[in-house]
Amino acid sequence: MNIGILISGKGSNMLNIVKACDNGTLNARVKIVISNKPSEGIYKAQKIGIPTKIIETKNFNSKLKFENEITNILKINKVSLVCLAGFMKILSKKFVSQWEKRLINIHPSLLPSFKGINAQLQAIKKGVKYAGCTVHYVSSAIDDGEILDQSIVKVCKNENEQSLSKKILIEEHKLYIKVLKNLINKELV
Ligand code: GAR
Repeated sequence: MNIGILISGKGSNMLNIVKACDNGTLNARVKIVISNKPSEGIYKAQKIGIPTKIIETKNFNSKLKFENEITNILKINKVSLVCLAGFMKILSKKFVSQWEKRLINIHPSLLPSFKGINAQLQAIKKGVKYAGCTVHYVSSAIDDGEILDQSIVKVCKNENEQSLSKKILIEEHKLYIKVLKNLINKELV
């Protein structure tokens, strides 16, 4: 199973997937990490020898061309499963349909609650008692698509965005690997 990972930020989920492939937890290989900008994650991937590519929207005169370039790079690397891991760009219907059931995302909330950015802050502001994370197939609507699995964390008194994000991220790392393991074992991708 060849995995491609799309990131925009720190890349902790990406590194965790790479680690799970390296230590045999996942019967898969991360073939390419793509970032839509120079990011902390891309430098971390380069440091451990993972092939990387920065594909920036500003270098393309349309979203279509930007996404076509992503698809080209994924195909050149014979990727059969694409994992979004903190990739903060909305993908078009065309792109999503090209990768139907082979494109998954992790989001730091119990979807369908708190879609979009700052999900953890949205949860704190709403005063929820439980928060969490979700791994789902990607559809063309933001943070939407069939839910594959979720993890719950308890929101404590005096919880703030930072402490909640930290707690959720620990669960994200476990959940993403659990879902990938299931998909790979059941050959659902
Ligand atoms: C993660 O919390 C991920 O769930 C979130 O971005 C963070 C990336 O962290 N993604 C979204 O909010 C997508 N809507 P990481 O770069 O350390 O993996």
